[in-house]
Amino acid sequence: MGQRKPIVAGNWKMNGSCELIKEIAAVSTQVSSEQCEVLIFPPAVLLSEAISAGLTCGTQTVSEFESGAYTGEIQASLVKSLGANYTLVGHSERRSIYGESDEDVANKFAQAQQSGLTPILCIGETQAQREQGKTEEVVKQQLEAVIKKLGIASLANSVIAYEPVWAIGTGLTATPEQAQATHKYIRDLLSDYDKHVANALRILYGGSVNESNSELLFAQADIDGGLIGGASLKPQSFKAICESAKG
Ligand code: PGA
Repeated sequence: MGQRKPIVAGNWKMNGSCELIKEIAAVSTQVSSEQCEVLIFPPAVLLSEAISAGLTCGTQTVSEFESGAYTGEIQASLVKSLGANYTLVGHSERRSIYGESDEDVANKFAQAQQSGLTPILCIGETQAQREQGKTEEVVKQQLEAVIKKLGIASLANSVIAYEPVWAIGTGLTATPEQAQATHKYIRDLLSDYDKHVANALRILYGGSVNESNSELLFAQADIDGGLIGGASLKPQSFKAICESAKG
């Protein structure tokens, strides 16, 4: 991980409660913020509650539009004004269940940054794409959709989360070597655009991270922490994962 401060981010998806916010807030104050940034992505309806509890938070998605007649959407500038600093964009569940295209994701990334939120851009290949040897091609296309629209400099104020779709919620984690290989590919690719941006960028791994596999994953040179789904709903597991990110 070197000079980059690790992030451990909990993606609660459509789970959690006011009770869990209290429990996670208690745990997160025990993790040193000097050594690891702890972020929580609760359902949007719990955002104020989570911020009041002292958690550093974001939403799981935002609208690509600034404001207007978009019933049910989440307005990035309002998220920011509540005191949140981050948002996920392009999570694989948004892409596959809600049909978000690379272009939609790039537009959401842009809207997040315009509103003062730091986007965490989620990318990753499906099982079929990996079996066809297309992992690098897929992550390159997902990254370049943002770079072509907004320029490489836009990535300076962002975080990447590499999450192989086949590892999300399945209990099948990428091995540390598999994950590191793709993280290195991502950093090398970005380095061809801008070395400084690539060096400073935090690239998180996600997909069935738990307290038993996090240490080895986070020990890899190009893995700068994790995006945690299921295990972020269990306070003691989440705490152990945060501890393991300190290196
Ligand atoms: P998981 O989810 O840890 O439950 O696999 C990760 C994610 O979807 O961000």
